[in-house]
This record gives sequence, structure tokens and C-alpha cells, in this order.
Amino acid sequence: EITKELLYTGKAKDVYKTENENEVIIKFRDDITALDGGRKDTLSKKGEYNALISAKLFQILEERGIKTQFIRLVEPNEMLTKSLDMIPLEVICRNIATGSLLRKYPFHRNQELNPPIIQFDYKNDVYHDPMLNDSIITALKIASQEQLDKIREITHVINKVLSKFLKEKGLILVDFKIEFGLDTEGNIVLGDEISPDTTRLWDSETLDNFDKDIFRKGEEGVVDAYHKVVDLVLTTEEKE
Ligand code: C5P
Repeated sequence: EITKELLYTGKAKDVYKTENENEVIIKFRDDITALDGGRKDTLSKKGEYNALISAKLFQILEERGIKTQFIRLVEPNEMLTKSLDMIPLEVICRNIATGSLLRKYPFHRNQELNPPIIQFDYKNDVYHDPMLNDSIITALKIASQEQLDKIREITHVINKVLSKFLKEKGLILVDFKIEFGLDTEGNIVLGDEISPDTTRLWDSETLDNFDKDIFRKGEEGVVDAYHKVVDLVLTTEEKE
């Protein structure tokens, strides 16, 4: 029996207590936001699709030796996870120049980034998620240099594993945002989600978006695109 006491509510997910103090349930809601909260909607099935995709990608990563907080799906839109002490960083990894990178720096549109760019934004609504560097992160005591080095190393591996997996499914992993936390032993563990809300996924042939950019641009069909990602990444048995 799982008791449902709300611990935390975010823009698209809720976190609930369980009877085990080392585990929490992450519920993926149907809410979607963009433009720093400036555009909002509620789209039926969005939460379920993101939970399914995140669960699948976390399993792929676990198989390759990456520690994640994922335990199992308990509902189509609810994930049982290890409880983590989250580090307030948005770790962004980019393989292709697009999005905010083009607004801020003179990269060419769709320029290949090799080695990939890894960037740290501060997860802080009041300050609008400013980009940080190592000195600011350590001065603010968000993470130690050793932890940051480890986060970079793990992020590179995650990028390699997911880029390869998604490529086999006909998708380009353009960029993504991930978050880490510390488990009770102080290990750095991948948390939160990896879904079309937090990644850019392009069709390998047409370069069409299968991600939240559809919603950011104010176009229709974002949930259909997420459903397509579910179709591409899950096996037939996993879809049942
Ligand atoms: O907007 P920008 O180009 O910086 O986004 C880079 C990547 O990080 C995109 O895949 C985007 O979906 C993700 N992101 C996110 N949450 C944010 C900012 C960016 O998931 N707050």
C-alpha cells in the first residue's frame, strides 16, 4: 500500500512520499510549460508518455552501469524511485547548436558540436536559471569540484549511450537536460526525467522535432509526437 503525501510539486511533476523513507513516487502530470512559464497547457496522455519514455531510457542507462534513481513504474504515469538529495543544477549537454545557444552565441544553426558542450544552469526560478561556471558552483556550495568533474564524466557517458540507442530508433539526440542527486551514501545518481520535455529529438531523415520545441513554437501535435517517440523506443511487449 502506498500512502500519498505530497512532498514537492513542480511545473510538470509531483513527488510523493511512500511508506519507505528511502523511496519516493514521481508522478508525471499532463501539464506542459515553456518560455519560463509564459506558455502553459494541459495535454491528455503527455504525463504517461513522458513516464514511459523516461523509464525506458533510465533502464537503458542502468544496463550500461549508470546509477539512476529509477526503480519501476507503478502506474503508467508514476515512477517509484530512490529518494535523492537533488543538486540544483540543470546539466545541459549539446551535440548540435540550436535553441538558446543560437540566441546567446555566434554558433551556426545546426552546427555539429564535437566534443559536445556541457553547460550548467542554476535551477532557480527567482534568478531565471542563470548559467554557472565551476567557480560559481563551488563558491555557492552547490557542488564540490570533485562532484562536478564526476557529473561531467557521467554526462558524457549518458550522451554516448542515449545517442547510440536513439540513433538506432531513427532519432538524433540534439541536446538534453538532466539532473543529479546524492543518495544516502553520497553517490552521484541520475534523477528526475529524460523525456521529450527535456531533450531535443530530431527525425534522422527529415530533422523534424519530436519534442517540446513543437509546443515552444506554438504548433499543434506535441502529444502525437511524444506518442511517436513511445512507439519508436519501446518494444512491442513494453507497450502492452
Ligand atoms: O533552451 P535550450 O536550448 O538551452 O535547451 C537545451 C536543452 O535543455 C533542450 O533539450 C531543452 O529541452 C532542455 N531544457 C530543459 N529545461 C530547461 C532548459 C532546457 O529541459 N529549464
